Formats: sequence, C-alpha cells, structure tokens
Amino acid sequence: MAPVNTGTQVTRGAAATATTGAPPTDPESAPTDPESAPTDPESPPTDSESPAYGSDFLQLDAADVPLGGKAAWLARRLRQAIADGRLTVGSRLPPTRVLAAELRLSRGVITEAYRRLAEDGHVEGRRRGGTVVVAAPSLAQVRARATGLYRSPAPAAPDRRVPGAVPDLFSGEPGADVFDTLRATHARIDFTPGQPDLTTFPRAAWLRAERAVLAGLSFENLGYGDPRGAPQLRRAVTAWLATSRGIRVEPDEVLVVAGTAQALTLLHPVLRDDGIDSVAVEDPGSLGTRQHLQNGNLATPPVPVDQGGVRVDALRATGARAALLTPAHQFPTGVVTSGERRRELLLWARDGGLVMEDDYDAEHRYDRPPVPALRALLADRVCYMGSVSKLLAPALRIGWVVPPPRYRAPLTEAKRFTDLGNAVLPQLVLARLMESGDLERHLHLLRRRHRRRRDAMIAALAEHLPGAVVHGAAAGLHLTVTYAPEVPDTDLAAAALARGVKCQPLSWHRQIPGNPGLVLGYAATPPGSVTEGVAILGEALRELG
Ligand SMILES: Cc1ncc(COP(=O)(O)O)c(C=O)c1O
Repeated sequence: MAPVNTGTQVTRGAAATATTGAPPTDPESAPTDPESAPTDPESPPTDSESPAYGSDFLQLDAADVPLGGKAAWLARRLRQAIADGRLTVGSRLPPTRVLAAELRLSRGVITEAYRRLAEDGHVEGRRRGGTVVVAAPSLAQVRARATGLYRSPAPAAPDRRVPGAVPDLFSGEPGADVFDTLRATHARIDFTPGQPDLTTFPRAAWLRAERAVLAGLSFENLGYGDPRGAPQLRRAVTAWLATSRGIRVEPDEVLVVAGTAQALTLLHPVLRDDGIDSVAVEDPGSLGTRQHLQNGNLATPPVPVDQGGVRVDALRATGARAALLTPAHQFPTGVVTSGERRRELLLWARDGGLVMEDDYDAEHRYDRPPVPALRALLADRVCYMGSVSKLLAPALRIGWVVPPPRYRAPLTEAKRFTDLGNAVLPQLVLARLMESGDLERHLHLLRRRHRRRRDAMIAALAEHLPGAVVHGAAAGLHLTVTYAPEVPDTDLAAAALARGVKCQPLSWHRQIPGNPGLVLGYAATPPGSVTEGVAILGEALRELG
C-alpha cells in the first residue's frame, strides 16, 4: 500500500479544502493574504500556539496500521513523537478529522488515542485551541511503556540544588561555546558586555519601514539578490559611513554581511590566499573575535595595549602581516588609539601590514569627540568592518565590510559561495531606516539612555569598589574595572553569578597575564539594577579578598 505521508505539510487552508471536497486551488489565484485564507473551525488559531500539523511528523505508512489496537498504536506513535521533539510542548495536535482522513482511520480511533495521551498528562484539550502538547515523556519512559515495563512517574523529588549554584563557567580556558553557556545562564542582573538597550528597539519605525518596503517591493526584489547586498542598503551604508565615520566610499565598495563575525569568517580564505596565516590581536582583546580567527586556523599572536592603544613596536615584533584592531574604542579597555599611535600604525600598514578595523561600537560616545575610522586615512591597507549589532540589535545579523580594493572580488566570491547574499527584506528595511533618519534618531535616544546607565555604574563603582580602576567609560556599551591582584577575576565572576549578577572576567580576554578585572556592560541594564549589581560585586570582592 502507498505511504500515507505525502511529504507536504497540511496547512489550515489545505485541511479545510480536503474535508469539504472543494477542488484544489490554483496557486496563482490562491489568496496571498493569510487573513483571507479559509479557517478551520475545529481548531481556530491562537496567538500563543503553533499551528496544527498534518500527519507528516508521524512518518507513518498506512501499511503499518495494525488490524487491532489501533488507538493504542497511534497513542504510542504520538508519545514517541513528543518524546523525541518532533512535537514540541506548546504545539497543537492535528485536528482529529485531518488525522483521520490522512491515516484512513475513524475519528473515534484518533479521539481515543488523544484521550490516552491526555490521561498520561502529555496533552490537554483546549476548547477553541484544539489539543495541545503540555509535557514531554522521556524516551526511556516511551520505550518502557512499549515493552510493558512502564510505571507512573513517582512524585518529583525536591530540588536539592544549592540556591545560587551556577554552571562551572569560570574554571579552565573558555571554550568555543563559552558565550552560549553564559547567555543561557540566568542571572537577575546581566552585565554581559556588547548589548545595547534592546527595550528601545524602534519597533514602530521598523514596522512602518517594513510596510512601506513591502508596498513598493518589485517581484525582482523577491528573487536572488546581488551577493554583495541590496544596492539600496549599500547606498545607505555609504552615506552612514561618510557622516558618522568619515569614510568616503562608493556603494560598489561595500559588501553587506551577517555581522563582523561573518566578515571574519569570509576573510579566512582571502587572507590565506594572500599568504597571511597569522593575525595579531590586541591584548587584552576580544575573546570572541579571537575565537573567530582561530576557527579559521589563523594564529593570533597577542600585542599589548597601553594608554595610546596597541603597541606598534610589539606588533612589528610579532612578524604578523595583519592585525585585528578596535582603534575607536579598544575592546575591552576602551582606549582610543592616540594620534601618534595612528601615525605609527599607518607606517606599519604602508610597509605591507593589513589593518582589520573592527569598528564595533564607535557610534556610542558620551564625553569625547568622534574619532574618524582608520579606513578614512588609508584605503589600500585597511579592511573596515561594522554592523548594526550595537546600533539596533545583534539578532538582525546585518553588517558591512569595506575591504581594500584587492580583497573586493575574493570577498564577494566567499560571500556568494557562503549564502548567495544576506536576506533582502531586512536589508531594504534597514536602508529605509537609514534614509529616513529614524536610525540616527534611535542612536541619539540610545546615547541618552546609555549615558545615564554608565553614570550610575561609575557612581556605584566609586561607592562599592573604591579601590578599583575604571577604564574606557567615555564611549561604548561597557567599561572595564581592574583591581588589586589578590582575587582571581574568574573567582569574582563566579561569586557574582552565584549572587545573581552576570559579567565577564577580564582574563577571558587576555592571552598575556595581567591584573584581574571585570568587563561590565551597562547599556542593557536600568540604572537602579546597575547600582544594585555593582553593590553585589563589591560585597563579593570583599568576601573573597
Ligand atoms: C569586539 C567585538 N567586535 C565585534 C562584535 C560584533 O560582532 P557582530 O557584528 O558579528 O555582531 C562584538 C560583539 O560583541 C565585539 O565585542
């Protein structure tokens, strides 16, 4: 017998068509507006639940349906699907008549199978919301049940975890997944650096721009785009770079990418083809970007940073032909590369060095004038990278590269073979936000809010960690504090996390040992919580010291 599974997901509209016996709709004349699609009266949609599935997820062959015990068989298959994650908690089971039609079973069999799952506590009938998965059995339970060894679960044992117990994040070298683990670890107060105040994301402006873009969108825009990015966005980025970063380029010189992270990955083969297998990095310097380089098997010799920025004499001594730098606001110390050091860097670059300029948060400045990007001074030897991660939201994954001319073609090729170019719709929306001035307005709003948070952090540090030294608070989304060497910063970060405050130890961002410290993001935390979090840090340091 032919498999029941047709390989297509049954949509709400399709389900309704199947049961009314209406002829199939012509896709060209089918309604495109989901609001005008026919609705299924058995399980109308709710905002909070996933739509119903057809039977595809069960991967059933009608030949497998036993002659007797059909309801028990189906209940077993459904339990298995919930246990292995094909049906997640919160999703709805298919309407009984849809499943009955697809599996060629009676509705009575389906209803009985659902009833059994409800009895186990795995699904729940909701009058207008259909039957919803509310708990997942373990695979072991499912197997035991299939072999007749199942017992009802014993009442849950009391949670004996020590309150405040935290994963072992801070012992040993941080691995590639360290930021994922940190992100997934709950803390009442989050000082993780690198996040702007995401509560102010300009949702209304974005929605307005998206509506306007959709209203004027041509069919061509829905096809494959230019791998370098939508021309509208490349034009808007050139205007943005000219006014905010002093960089004058043509749209053809800009490559739209999925953030600086992707820019670094695209650069791996390009650097290798240019004979570069070692990229010097600042020390202290971003662990994240260093990991991205190392992931491409590039060596990352450390170069010390002092009050003037990266030490160019030490950079020369590494022999590396490329250096990844954050000249406008060094990560994590916040140092601005001095005029003298910029001149030395430009000489190093003219002698054959390549500056990879990571301009990650240069737009956020409070008590200092803007510093032009190095790319504005030396086009041939600087590969400039920026993104909207700190301007709008990291989740957008939109950024740009302005490479030196000789890297333009190979980088475009790397981007083409990676993903054929960024998703076009968000690029067009961003272009519109840039052109309309909404992005600029948003930046000004962010600066005001971030400044208040930064001021709260500086005041709280003076009160609760009076011996600590604050670095790099004139700009950006974070600051760094260093303190006397008795307490390792990983111990302090662990103690803070156990008390509900999340931050990064400075030593994560070092290859060369140095004073302990913490990297504290303030931009995403309201002033009251900033003060409270710093008080907790002070308490933790006093206890450990
Ligand atoms: C030093 C540094 N560079 C770049 C980035 C941003 O990367 P992306 O543009 O991929 O979001 C970050 C993010 O935190 C960072 O800390």
